[in-house]
Amino acid sequence: MSTPDQSHASQAIDSMLQESRRFDPRPAAELGFAAWHVDGIETYREMHKRSVEDPETFWAEQAKQLHWMGAYEKVLDWQPPDVKWFVNGRINACDNCVDRHVRDGHGDKVALVWESEPVKDDAKTPEPAEIRSLTYRDLQRETARCANALKKLGVRKGNVVTIYMPMTPEIVIAVLACARIGAPHSVIFGGFAPHAIVERVTDARSKVIITADGGYRRGEIVPLKKNVDEACETLEKNGNPVDAVQCLRRCGNQIGWKNSRDVWWHEALDAVDDNCPCAPLDSEDMLFLLYTSGSTGKPKGIVHSTAGYLLYTAMTAKYTFNLRPDSKQLYWCTADVGWITGHSYIIYGVMANRVPTLLYEGAPNHPRPDRFWEIIARHRVTQLYTAPTAIRAFMKWGDEHPAKHDLSSLRILGTVGEPINPEAWMWYHNHIGHGKCPIVDTYWQTETGGHVITPLPGAITTKPGSCTLPMFGIDAAVVNEEGHELPANQGGLLAIRKPWPGMLRGVFGDRDRFVKGYWSRLKDPRTGTPYYFSADGARRDSDGYFWVMGRVDDVINVSGHRLGTMEVESALVSHPAIAEAAVVGMPHEIKGTGICAFVTVKSAWSKQNGGRLPDDALRKELTAHVAKEIGPIAKPDSIRFADGLPKTRSGKTMRRLLRDVAAGVEKITQDT
Ligand code: WT7
Repeated sequence: MSTPDQSHASQAIDSMLQESRRFDPRPAAELGFAAWHVDGIETYREMHKRSVEDPETFWAEQAKQLHWMGAYEKVLDWQPPDVKWFVNGRINACDNCVDRHVRDGHGDKVALVWESEPVKDDAKTPEPAEIRSLTYRDLQRETARCANALKKLGVRKGNVVTIYMPMTPEIVIAVLACARIGAPHSVIFGGFAPHAIVERVTDARSKVIITADGGYRRGEIVPLKKNVDEACETLEKNGNPVDAVQCLRRCGNQIGWKNSRDVWWHEALDAVDDNCPCAPLDSEDMLFLLYTSGSTGKPKGIVHSTAGYLLYTAMTAKYTFNLRPDSKQLYWCTADVGWITGHSYIIYGVMANRVPTLLYEGAPNHPRPDRFWEIIARHRVTQLYTAPTAIRAFMKWGDEHPAKHDLSSLRILGTVGEPINPEAWMWYHNHIGHGKCPIVDTYWQTETGGHVITPLPGAITTKPGSCTLPMFGIDAAVVNEEGHELPANQGGLLAIRKPWPGMLRGVFGDRDRFVKGYWSRLKDPRTGTPYYFSADGARRDSDGYFWVMGRVDDVINVSGHRLGTMEVESALVSHPAIAEAAVVGMPHEIKGTGICAFVTVKSAWSKQNGGRLPDDALRKELTAHVAKEIGPIAKPDSIRFADGLPKTRSGKTMRRLLRDVAAGVEKITQDT
């Protein structure tokens, strides 16, 4: 089969298939756990079998771990591609993450620990600027106040609230406040530029934005409010004005203010009381929308449900990280709340398990490259969840940084976002886990809500580079275009053949994109029932282990962040000097995949037309232009000027050829 990314993905996979190291599960006690939730491969296999053969019984059992405000009538209603889980049940996600724990007598226990980045760019600062702990009772009060403030701004059940905030406890409060009243949140990563805000606010028809004056990043202030102001101006011009902006004072930087629209977070919360019951929502009410990149230029709003999503994240967090309340665990996921990882595994899945979650505002190397290790030692972190790109950066910065710190509290190490190369896996295992902590390489997507293929630490033998076996309820398979399951070690498409509670319920406002993107390419060859298509290529080895090869669509995964090549191309051609652009991924030592842009410049002789000479100055300008249009994460790593882009006879850009050129296995003659 031919998939666009086959060339370098298969090189990578070949080296992974030669991987013969195995790491068996260890007794729970060796790692300081009272027990494993899933204590061996037989238990895993038995539970997995039950979960896919009789999902209704399995999920009804699982659903008992949540607090329901009204009983559901039916576990599953599957009308492909539409699904309803826990039909007509009543439930609230904030109640399950916060209020329930207060009612159960845990109000004074720590729910959230926050550490800021050192505020001054002072390499000598030995201590962090600020550490704050919030209990479940604190969160109950703050989410209620924030929810009341939102109501006062006119937010009602079903109205989408946009959140564009730094990594402070208030972003968690804002998210849970929305959940409290049934207003779906749409979090936009703080690294995105005003244009990205405009696109997302318009698509979601959102009228209220929660932001902050700024956020700290490597000692610099990210001008969040300024970006929101710029976006609001465009939105107003386009006829989609925003009604209100609630702004947290974080950095005290100078900002613009519009009295008719802007309100300070602290003033808004001080003006309301702290009584706001959690709304009894329908199981299928939209909990949130999260925009992610697809193969067109326009990001898509992935819709997640309340009950199914919450249960799926709670269940997966519990089993993957062996979360156990009351056992002195402190779990840390280093992702930003602006991505699905932050939604599912900083907030919902972890808090529903009543295990304290750590939130960190800054960068891994500010003010020094041992920042993470210092935090782990200070707070005695027990589970760490991070990305391969971070691990590769740590390797480069040097072994001495983790070696300086006491990492003995660590018990489980997680990785997510992109395939992890065996070298990075081994480094993580040796230098962070000191050879004793199981590594969970969790494969999933914004669309899947939670982990769909992952090792379970007490049950599944790991192999460096493989995400191993499917989660409970997941009927994953590697299939060909006809939907036939492929034999071991043959590359194909990664499909999920049955519905699961955490799966996306739609693409906001775009039924067609939902059906075509996920449910039209693959189906059961016998019955014609659609399969979920992940857009990833994969192989299974002879033990049934999955090895994910990467995207087979025009999406690239840069440092674990998903970007559509077309988004970057549109940003490039919006520069006056650029006639045409093609963007492809290329191997990158730290990022996994880097961005390589091929551009043709308008003729240098037609200056009125924007024509320029293809030189380094233009390269710099283009890089800054892309950062301004999308955000710094989309900056090309390499910009190559060409006289023309190679096209097929029907006029399509030959991306495969460009990928080979970018990877250095092919030369392009027009290259300058
Ligand atoms: C894409 C989804 C899911 C949270 C972060 C990314 C890639 C993700 C793995 C992994 C190999 C992985 C896939 C997937 N991916 N985790 N453990 N091994 N590939 O979410 O932004 O929706 O991106 O990330 O290509 O399709 P996302």
